[in-house]
Amino acid sequence: MAQSTSTEKTSAGPNTVTLTDNSTGRSWELPILEGNEGPRVIDVRGLYNDTGFFTYDPGFGATASCDSAITFIDGEKGILRHGGYAIEDLAEHSSYMEVCYLLLQGELPTRAQRKEFESTITYHTMLHEQMLNFYRGFRRDSHPMSIMVAVVGALSAFYHDSTDISDPYQRMVASHRLIAKMPTIAAMAYKYSVGQPFVYPRNDLKYAENFLYMTFSVPCEDFKIRPALARAMDRIFILHADHEQNASTSTVRIAGSSGANPFACIAAGIASLWGPAHGGANEAVLQMLQEIGSKDRIPEFIQRAKDKDDPFRLMGFGHRVYKNYDPRAAVLRKSCHEVLDDLGKRDEPLLDLAMELERIALEDDYFAEKKLFPNVDFYSGIILQAMGFPTTMFTVLFALARTVGWVAQWKEMVEDPHHRISRPRQLYTGHPKRDFVPIDQRG
Ligand code: CMC
Repeated sequence: MAQSTSTEKTSAGPNTVTLTDNSTGRSWELPILEGNEGPRVIDVRGLYNDTGFFTYDPGFGATASCDSAITFIDGEKGILRHGGYAIEDLAEHSSYMEVCYLLLQGELPTRAQRKEFESTITYHTMLHEQMLNFYRGFRRDSHPMSIMVAVVGALSAFYHDSTDISDPYQRMVASHRLIAKMPTIAAMAYKYSVGQPFVYPRNDLKYAENFLYMTFSVPCEDFKIRPALARAMDRIFILHADHEQNASTSTVRIAGSSGANPFACIAAGIASLWGPAHGGANEAVLQMLQEIGSKDRIPEFIQRAKDKDDPFRLMGFGHRVYKNYDPRAAVLRKSCHEVLDDLGKRDEPLLDLAMELERIALEDDYFAEKKLFPNVDFYSGIILQAMGFPTTMFTVLFALARTVGWVAQWKEMVEDPHHRISRPRQLYTGHPKRDFVPIDQRG
């Protein structure tokens, strides 16, 4: 699915930039590549061979690490599209299963394709029974993300028949298994933490419904799925499905570039997502709102967020790419009201507090100058808490939804004939060569 690569897209002449080493006066022409949208990029692949220079870009703020046809973001304008479709349209009119198909296949499914895809995913939702033993080895108070990293990594020990990445069929089966089993793995992590029996998947339910059922039902009672909550859950999954080359996706690609199996790669992505600067932020937002406690304390926390000597940051605010309102946050803000209305929690004090915090921050010069706006995590925590999820499950839900994005990006990379192992270089700042001093002469 990767676009035809780079060198074919370049042409000599005006599509170059000139690099000049002012110390020697030598100049080199570097090709410029153009995608279908977004900034042009300077092709530095031949730079070291031609010039002896590396580029320096810690945090990859100005580096396109691959070409990809899956997701487009314009951070200045606050645009996110999958396969050309606006996230707002997908959230409003589509379903998570359709978005999964779109990310994997590059096109929305026909009715027949959607039916077949849904049935394939449904068919793979159960976990190998022996995998349940893994859960029992964990402490009851384990963070569910630690269980996710372990259990997803362990899938490679159970599904050997889909770990040969050179076989397109096995790649497809592994992709389906990961998308299908993630809700079961996540729900079981929750069940284990609260000491309730594991609930097996039900094939008559839709993806989001099934997840809510496995998470919240108990064998001793009937479980009624609230349609508004199932719809909100599905929408949360859509909004988190993919986000181009973020930290966890890049982790998956880097892990996969060595030829590692997909289950191991996705486990690596989950580990990266866990951090509070990435997927862990939704958990941190709720903790922050609880700590702020009341509207009159907002100015104090805004002041702390602006203080360079205080490590506190306004969680759920700011983004490496969006320098405008995160379009996912706008959808979630609306969804938040719908869910709270449905649950009869219209006066939820945390939502009131969050909206006031957003209002004050957006009027503040510091946040305006640095273009810090609410991101996807700002409102998702309030919705998830209202639905009954403990904060430790928030990042798990992010991982569940993002799995399709990781898988699609991994597949795209593996299927790109030009892909190479990811091996960045460095600007060395350590000691120059020195003689070894034996221990008895070191004092
Ligand atoms: N509160 C206060 N100041 C901030 C914040 C914030 N939330 N975010 C950035 N800044 C300031 C930062 O101090 C820096 O100021 P200065 O230029 O004076 O040093 C400037 O804005 C740029 O910040 P940065 O850390 O260089 O930006 P980054 O692109 O490396 O970081 C970020 C992006 C998302 C990690 C950061 O904005 C952040 O820590 N936000 C809070 C955590 C959060 O909500 N993360 C979820 C991200 S969206 C979901 C996902 O992708 O997983």
